[in-house]
Amino acid sequence: MSIQVLPLAPPDVQVVSVLADAIWRHHYAGIISSEQIEYMLAQRYQPTVILTQLSTAGIWWRKLALNEEIIGFCCCMVTDNPKELKIDKLYIHCNHHRKGYGALLVAEAIKIMRENNLQSLILTVNKHNQTAIDAYHKYGFEITRDSIVDIGEGFIMNDYLMTLAPTKMRKT
Ligand SMILES: CC(C)(COP(=O)(O)OP(=O)(O)OC[C@H]1O[C@@H](n2cnc3c(N)ncnc32)[C@H](O)[C@@H]1OP(=O)(O)O)[C@@H](O)C(=O)NCCC(=O)NCCS
Repeated sequence: MSIQVLPLAPPDVQVVSVLADAIWRHHYAGIISSEQIEYMLAQRYQPTVILTQLSTAGIWWRKLALNEEIIGFCCCMVTDNPKELKIDKLYIHCNHHRKGYGALLVAEAIKIMRENNLQSLILTVNKHNQTAIDAYHKYGFEITRDSIVDIGEGFIMNDYLMTLAPTKMRKT
């Protein structure tokens, strides 16, 4: 069995878009409305959107490949604070949860942060997404504050902002 974290390439984009669709419809049912799921999928996971991001400075997409099948992905980007990296997307298909793969993608985000001389790592997570909150605590993130963002068309992201604890930032 081979599990790898690799840069996402243009030929992978269609697969990741379909995978995001499946993960979101399954995972967020009961957390956000089906209308908001459709809106956010269209806004964030259309192949053209991902393709543009692949060639944008300050954005890094990675795929998680199990025996060459893409089973998850993450996307990190520099925020308005030029020294801060945000894990903007972190998703693994439910058939492959709790095997430490999320930890691999977070380790990759920490690597990207260090390689680019960035100083902090943040993310936002829906307040009702308890399994993800538990996972982030396990990885060393702490809830810093609320993050309530209007994303248009009457939809709101009601999230916590979490920050990687300084003790986890040091090189081991
Ligand atoms: C959150 C996520 C990325 C974690 O990845 P993972 O590979 O499953 O997690 P890991 O194996 O590295 O760590 C597991 C921890 O996550 C939590 N967790 C993940 N899946 C869980 C589940 N189905 N039930 C309960 N806890 C779960 C637990 O705290 C677990 O720790 P434990 O196994 O020691 O109890 C993954 O579960 C996922 O993609 N979830 C759905 C999408 C999502 O919510 N993404 C985050 C958006 S902000």
